[in-house]
Amino acid sequence: MQKVTVNVSRQPYQVLIEAGLLRQAGNSLRKLFGDRRHCVVVTVSPLRRRWGRVLASSLKTAKFDFAFLEMPDGERHKRLATVERLAEQLVRLGTDRKTTIIAFGGGVVGDTVGLLASLYMRGVDVVQIPTTLLAQVDAAIGGKTGVDLKEGKNLVGTFHHPRVVLIDTDVLSTLPPREFRAGLYESLKCGVIGNAKLFEEIESGKPVMLRRNAKSLGNIVTQSVKLKAQIVSADEREDGLRRVLNFGHTIGHALETESGYRRFLHGEAVAWGMIAATRLAAATNRIDLFSARRIINAVHGIGPLPSVTASGKKILRLMRADKKTTDGVIHFVLPTKIGRVEITNDIPEELIVAAVDELRESPGK
Ligand SMILES: NC(=O)c1ccc[n+]([C@@H]2O[C@H](COP(=O)([O-])OP(=O)(O)OC[C@H]3O[C@@H](n4cnc5c(N)ncnc54)[C@H](O)[C@@H]3O)[C@@H](O)[C@H]2O)c1
Ligand SMILES: [Zn+2]
Repeated sequence: MQKVTVNVSRQPYQVLIEAGLLRQAGNSLRKLFGDRRHCVVVTVSPLRRRWGRVLASSLKTAKFDFAFLEMPDGERHKRLATVERLAEQLVRLGTDRKTTIIAFGGGVVGDTVGLLASLYMRGVDVVQIPTTLLAQVDAAIGGKTGVDLKEGKNLVGTFHHPRVVLIDTDVLSTLPPREFRAGLYESLKCGVIGNAKLFEEIESGKPVMLRRNAKSLGNIVTQSVKLKAQIVSADEREDGLRRVLNFGHTIGHALETESGYRRFLHGEAVAWGMIAATRLAAATNRIDLFSARRIINAVHGIGPLPSVTASGKKILRLMRADKKTTDGVIHFVLPTKIGRVEITNDIPEELIVAAVDELRESPGK
C-alpha cells in the first residue's frame, strides 16, 4: 500500500492507495476511528449498484454501524438544495457529531458531501473514497468543497479536509473510457508542473494500456497524489503556490463556460487549455520548441477531444470575467520545461486570442 501524507496544520491526514483497498476500507477506518462506530455513506446510485456491496461488506466486517444515502448523479445536482436534502436525511438517521460521513463517488459527490460534512452540526468528520480518476488524483485531496450556483461553478464552498482518503484503483475498471481519459489529463498536468518522470510514464503509454496495467496505474495515481499533497501542504488555502495546479485551467475554464458545461468534460477542457498555454509559453520563448511539442503530443496521445468551436475573442472575454482573475489581470501558468512552470500575467491579449483560435484548427472529434 502507498501512503501519502497531506501535511495541513490542523490535522494532517493520509491518502492510502492500493488496488483492492475498498475491501479493507472498514479495517482502515476502524484503526482511525477506534470505537466510533457510526458512519453514513453518501453516494450515487450507479456506483452503489457496482461497488456498494464491497464497501458495505467491509464496513460490516469491521463492525461499523452504517447507512447508505443516495444523491442524484451529475454535476447539475452539485447544488445547495442537495446539501439541504442530505442534511435532513442525516437528522432522520440520528446522525450526531460523532458520526463519520463517507463520500463515495466522483468529484461531484466529494465536493457536495465535503460541504455537507463541513456544515452539518457545524462540522463532522468526512472520509473521501474517490471513484473516478479525476477525483482520485485531484478533487478528493486538498479539502476544497463546494457547490454550483446558477451564476457559476463552485461559487459556494468551504475548506474541510477529510480525515483520510482511501483510493482503490480497481474501481476505475468500471469507469467509462472518456471519464478515465479526462482524469488522465489532470495527471499529465501534474507531470508537466512538477514531475518529469510522471509525464514520461503517461507520454509513453496508451490510456488503454495504462488502464489495464495495475502497476502503472497505481504509480500514476500515487505520483499525482504526491504532487498535489505536496503543493496543498505548502499552501493550504490557495494563497499562492497552489495556483500552479491551474496549468491549463485559465483557458480550460473559459471553454467550459462558453459551451455551457456540456461539450467538454472538465479534464478535456483542461487538455485544450494545456495545449494553448504550452503554445503561449513557446511564443514567449519560455520553453524550447521540442519540449513544447512533446507536451502537446502527449495531450493528443491520450485520445480524441471534442473540437473547439469558440473564437479566441469570446474566450478572452470570459477569462476576464473569471472569478480567479483578480483586478482584470489574467494569470497564466506556463511551462518552462517538462516538470517546471511559472506564473505570469504579462501575456499580450492578441497572443491569447491567437492561441485559442489555433485550437479551432486542431484536430478534434
Ligand atoms: N475539490 C476540488 O479540489 C476539485 C478538483 C477538481 C474537480 N472538482 C470537481 O469534481 C467534479 C468532477 O468530478 P468527476 O469528474 O469525478 O465527475 P462525477 O463525479 O460527475 O463522475 C463522473 C461520472 O462517473 C460515474 N462514476 C464514478 N465513479 C465510477 C466508477 N468507478 N465506475 C463507473 N462510473 C463511475 C459517476 O456516477 C458520474 O456519472 C466537478 O464538479 C469539479 O468541480 C473538485
Ligand atoms: Zn482541474
